[in-house]
Amino acid sequence: MTIYIPKLPDEAPFSAPQRAWLNGYFAGMMGGDTGETNAAPAVVEEDFPWHDPAFDLDERLALAKDRALPRRLMAAMAQLDCGQCGYLCQSYGEAIASGAEKSLGKCVPGGKETSKALRALMAEAPAVAAPAIKAEAAHPPGRLIAEAVFKGAAPLNGEGSAKDTRHVVFDLSGTGLDYRPGDAFGLYAPIAPELAAAVVAALGADSALAVERDGRRMSLGEMLSTILDIARPGDSVVEAMMKHATAADRDGLAKILDGAADAPLADPDLLDLLLKFPAVRPPLDELLASLEELQPRLYSIASSPRAHQGEVHLTIGVVRYKRNGRARHGVASTFLAERHPPGAGLRCFVQPAHGFRLPDDLSKPVIMIGPGTGIAPFRAFLEERRATKAPGKNWLFFGDQHEACDFIYRDEIEAFQADGTLTRLDLAFSRDGTKRIYVQDRMRDAGAELWAWLNEGAHIYVCGDASRMARDVDAALREIVAAQGGMDEAAAKAFVQKLAADKRYQRDVY
Ligand SMILES: Cc1cc2nc3c(=O)[nH]c(=O)nc-3n(C[C@H](O)[C@H](O)[C@H](O)COP(=O)(O)OP(=O)(O)OC[C@H]3O[C@@H](n4cnc5c(N)ncnc54)[C@H](O)[C@@H]3O)c2cc1C
Ligand SMILES: NC(=O)c1ccc[n+]([C@@H]2O[C@H](COP(=O)([O-])OP(=O)(O)OC[C@H]3O[C@@H](n4cnc5c(N)ncnc54)[C@H](OP(=O)(O)O)[C@@H]3O)[C@@H](O)[C@H]2O)c1
Repeated sequence: MTIYIPKLPDEAPFSAPQRAWLNGYFAGMMGGDTGETNAAPAVVEEDFPWHDPAFDLDERLALAKDRALPRRLMAAMAQLDCGQCGYLCQSYGEAIASGAEKSLGKCVPGGKETSKALRALMAEAPAVAAPAIKAEAAHPPGRLIAEAVFKGAAPLNGEGSAKDTRHVVFDLSGTGLDYRPGDAFGLYAPIAPELAAAVVAALGADSALAVERDGRRMSLGEMLSTILDIARPGDSVVEAMMKHATAADRDGLAKILDGAADAPLADPDLLDLLLKFPAVRPPLDELLASLEELQPRLYSIASSPRAHQGEVHLTIGVVRYKRNGRARHGVASTFLAERHPPGAGLRCFVQPAHGFRLPDDLSKPVIMIGPGTGIAPFRAFLEERRATKAPGKNWLFFGDQHEACDFIYRDEIEAFQADGTLTRLDLAFSRDGTKRIYVQDRMRDAGAELWAWLNEGAHIYVCGDASRMARDVDAALREIVAAQGGMDEAAAKAFVQKLAADKRYQRDVY
């Protein structure tokens, strides 16, 4: 029998001795021969069938259920390998399993669903002695974090739109940051000061009070708006509150922790919790210690550096909604749209793409599917194809709710058509007709041509919503391959998997 012994990837945030220790630890955990902790364990091929963001959490966990703990933890992540947490999905799972990483709340795209699943997996796992090492800061070594100058967030939607999408520009000159089309841009945005102030008031505290976390001293107000995630408190906050609650309040908090249908709050932020449970006030240091750190947000880069030297452009959908009776504002998207003045700096970094790149061979055709903010990397791709005079054909599928107000970058897209950069454009405005039309409907309409492009060696890219759009587009692609290629379902699935393995089917979904 072959035993797979997991090994930390090179980009995991550990020093060489830590890496050797952890690799030895994994070997021991898997029943392998640890003898030499700094000797590379025998690694055999391992597949990660759950490593697809289009699967639901339950499906991913089911696919990993017979694997070792680090893999089951990996399956609970959002499978984006976006790097927002400072790891990849695999290395974050491994770091948690080893005890080197204590935080279960770092997977921003996975949200509460992921942190809850991680908690459940850790609760049923046999206790492991934490290694005598500490995970380094949540940034892979070598990640350059620099202060870029914000130039503005211009609205892209027209009057009457339900969306508020912004074209965001940062000046990178002098930062040392550079990027390629396909990369993402990470930024550290603070929480709205009103939310931090409301939390301070609910705590009955003084925002000027000096507090400390991990050796960093600052005022309570500053810590609540820049360091701690009060917008997305993890289970540890509810647990800390339960320790200081009466039986009745404990019951309500327990229901929140379980996500019970009759819980007094659904997906609360810290202010919701403090307002709902005015009698529950853990000591401030305990409460602060229970909060997760605020994570950076990532955005697909919407520009080619060849077209906008010294700048990076982003396409950001502003998040605003109502929950538990209060208006909510997405931390980073509203910071850029509403609070950050042009000319001000912001800590940023470039997150290099893990498999979202234009073909090196400029003659290859490219098919891009990016409704909504999913257009972002394709603006960058088209700019790059124009700048490199790539002879390959380019086909874009785009859509959003209404042509009149949501056809973002219309002028630029039409200019790409006019100068021949964009060979073909298929649009799906979902709410202009009597029945919803989506990009995958346009793909099906053009199935024969799409198949012909694939046979010419086209690379196909999908960007945007992971849970619905990317999943349905994937299904449509398999249907087209089956119908046009005369294949049964299994053969079409294998064909699409082969496209992905050959890096001709790449996705940047969130
Ligand atoms: C690799 C990658 C690339 C990305 N690229 C882009 C991009 O190009 N453009 C872009 O706009 N975003 C992109 N995102 C998403 C982006 O990183 C942020 O998640 C997004 O901007 C929201 O961040 P925020 O801080 O404004 O909101 P947050 O404060 O993080 O709030 C968002 C959370 O609010 C909740 N929520 C949102 N809407 C609703 C609703 N209607 N009802 C109830 N709850 C809701 C959800 O729990 C959601 O996770 C990308 C993400 C990844 C991982
Ligand atoms: N994690 C976050 O905080 C965060 C923040 C921003 C965005 N997002 C995600 O990113 C997505 C992108 O948002 P967006 O506003 O740019 O665009 P979007 O909501 O994806 O909408 C773009 C277009 O896609 C359509 N669409 C809806 N369901 C679809 C499906 N199953 N298949 C194909 N198309 C579908 C929409 O139609 P209808 O609207 O008419 O149905 C609309 O025409 C959001 O859906 C959201 O899930 C996440």
